[in-house]
Amino acid sequence: MKKLGVCVVGLGFVGGQAHAPSMNKIKNANLVAVCDMNDKLATKYSTKYGCKKYLSTKEALKDPEIEAAVIAVPTPFHCSVAMEFIKAGKHVLLEMPLGINVGQTKKIIAAAKSAKVTLMPSLNFRFAPIYKRVKEMIKKEKVLGKGPVAVHYREYISANLLAAQWPPKSWAWDKQKSGGPLFTLSVWSIDLMRWLFEADLKQLHAVAENHKLKKYDGTHGYMGYAIAEFTNGTITSMEYSGGVCNDQTVVSMELVGENTNLITAIDTHTIKINTDDVHETVHKVQVGGPKVWGHYQMDEHFVSSILKGKAPEITPRDGLIATEAGVKIAKMYRQLK
Ligand SMILES: NC(=O)c1ccc[n+]([C@@H]2O[C@H](COP(=O)([O-])OP(=O)(O)OC[C@H]3O[C@@H](n4cnc5c(N)ncnc54)[C@H](O)[C@@H]3O)[C@@H](O)[C@H]2O)c1
Repeated sequence: MKKLGVCVVGLGFVGGQAHAPSMNKIKNANLVAVCDMNDKLATKYSTKYGCKKYLSTKEALKDPEIEAAVIAVPTPFHCSVAMEFIKAGKHVLLEMPLGINVGQTKKIIAAAKSAKVTLMPSLNFRFAPIYKRVKEMIKKEKVLGKGPVAVHYREYISANLLAAQWPPKSWAWDKQKSGGPLFTLSVWSIDLMRWLFEADLKQLHAVAENHKLKKYDGTHGYMGYAIAEFTNGTITSMEYSGGVCNDQTVVSMELVGENTNLITAIDTHTIKINTDDVHETVHKVQVGGPKVWGHYQMDEHFVSSILKGKAPEITPRDGLIATEAGVKIAKMYRQLK
């Protein structure tokens, strides 16, 4: 079986904990190397997975065994690192947001097109088993009749969890450099709605605030509300927070059907259905590790698409639309007095 030679570049939160373990397990992927300028991380993962380690992209680019890269470096470096790999003729799975602004994003997309390499945005929510099940309930089982008329999405992440993921001096808190945490984190939910409804964004409005958390030495306790209408007529409200207390991390989605039924997806494992006839039916989604949020399945799709010579289901345009929406939401940041 032909295997695709892969290098995971950036071994922090998502590269180290989701992409590297996934690429190590995927049958038709050969995790040739890991790359991080942080020697401790590079050594840790190269030892764990028995692969080569590189401390710079320059070194990694010289390795002819590397055919594709998963780029999971901080967003401010996406453009420069992605351009290096694309220009060297490597396929790229690029973390989201694709760039820190629309200009950078379009530049990366154009470069991939002209180099004739695959560029796939890392929009993993599409592969998360809980959302795949919700889509099946809507599309195949018609649980919501003709479909959802309205959706309310809530993404609350507790401040202490975010501070552990991105310490106070991290790139993610620097709005000038990276667009800030609300920009970074809103892109997946926007794409989730487009994918669920198989429709495009028609209008999007947002308000957001941003306060420094003294408790966590300058991380941000952002709050953001976005409302959107999609071309299929569904309206949505999306609520984001990175400033809630311990144990209040929750990602939930309520979908109101044309037939009055309600589907509620709670975190990654529970789906409730309420109807006039049956008060509540609870479905459990059984999955673990990097499959929970769809990273493993997405990485596998990237690898097999390239090996089959097919365009992946997630297109650069999907990444651009989500990035544009994230820019719009984060633009509404204001500092409360
Ligand atoms: N898909 C998801 O679920 C998900 C979740 C979180 C973050 N992200 C995205 O992934 C990206 C990384 O986020 P993170 O939270 O993992 O960041 P992080 O800060 O935890 O890790 C980034 C790593 O990249 C390394 N790095 C920086 N520049 C490099 C370079 N030029 N070459 C090699 N290594 C380099 C750093 O040393 C660090 O180890 C961001 O774009 C973020 O928006 C995606």
